[in-house]
Amino acid sequence: MPVSARRARVRALAKVNLGLKVLHKRPDGFHELRTVFQTISLGDTLELEYTPGGRPRIEATPEIPNNLVVRAAEAVFEALRLRGHLKAALTKRVPMGGGLGGGSSDAAAVLLALPVLAGKVLPVSRLLEIGAGLGSDVPFFLLGGTAAALGRGTELYPLPDGRRQHGLLVAPGVHVSTPEAYKALGRGLTSGASSNIINSFQAFVWDLGGLQNCPQKPPVFENDFESVVFDLYPRLKSIKRTLLKQGASYAMMSGSGSALFGVFESRDAVQAARAKWGEAALAVHTVSRSQYQALWWRSLAPHMDGKVWPPRSRYA
Ligand code: C5P
Repeated sequence: MPVSARRARVRALAKVNLGLKVLHKRPDGFHELRTVFQTISLGDTLELEYTPGGRPRIEATPEIPNNLVVRAAEAVFEALRLRGHLKAALTKRVPMGGGLGGGSSDAAAVLLALPVLAGKVLPVSRLLEIGAGLGSDVPFFLLGGTAAALGRGTELYPLPDGRRQHGLLVAPGVHVSTPEAYKALGRGLTSGASSNIINSFQAFVWDLGGLQNCPQKPPVFENDFESVVFDLYPRLKSIKRTLLKQGASYAMMSGSGSALFGVFESRDAVQAARAKWGEAALAVHTVSRSQYQALWWRSLAPHMDGKVWPPRSRYA
């Protein structure tokens, strides 16, 4: 008897970078980074329907050029030699080209959910490898919460869950191309001497200690992209200034931009600041790793076998 369709509706949350240092260009063409990723409450929704059996088929809506949902699904079909039909419908809420990792999170959502629906297991090492092949931010979304990242952004060190922080996210509708932003930044970068790597690693680790002890305080490191991206789009600099004037304890651009976020003392303070921005700003809060994983377990509950991470299929 043919197996009926298995459905899940999952959320692919966005991230912000709590500081981002770019050291130098590496032999593989990527840049050596130091950053801290943080998942936030804004997210896309992905509705997945997988029917086992038949020839491999992937249907994704809406049609997006170079769609990371499709590329992630193809990678999972290939790795698991799946025979089945996947339908994926994406509702986009995370602005594209905002430095919020929307596309990467969509890809990670497929990597986490599809094996569960298909009744297969992809070892964590394989998930991370496929994720890194799709994009530098994808592996982080296989983990969620707060994590330090090194290398090209794929070497992850989970940090303990802190208390919920409330923020205002301003997405000005400017699409910043990540490769272009790296290129602009590259002109001012130092060489990749190993003493530089070790010293910067040391400084990064100490800074992380500060971040963990006083999460309300401004991060000790800034986002290196701000100088070059603010030069290209001066409006972004004035958004940052306004957020600080409104009482944000710190404000920063995320990734290579163009979205900016300000962290405030309370939810009420965020609501008060939001009123002045209209549609341009969204109230968000941080999502810890335990909340991130709980969200996944809830979404996949009918198809899962116990609360383990990454989610495990009961059909496996
Ligand atoms: O890996 P991802 O697809 O996000 O990278 C997009 C582009 O951003 C890369 O092709 C590269 O130009 C740049 N990049 C980089 N160093 C990184 C991450 C991204 O130079 N660590």
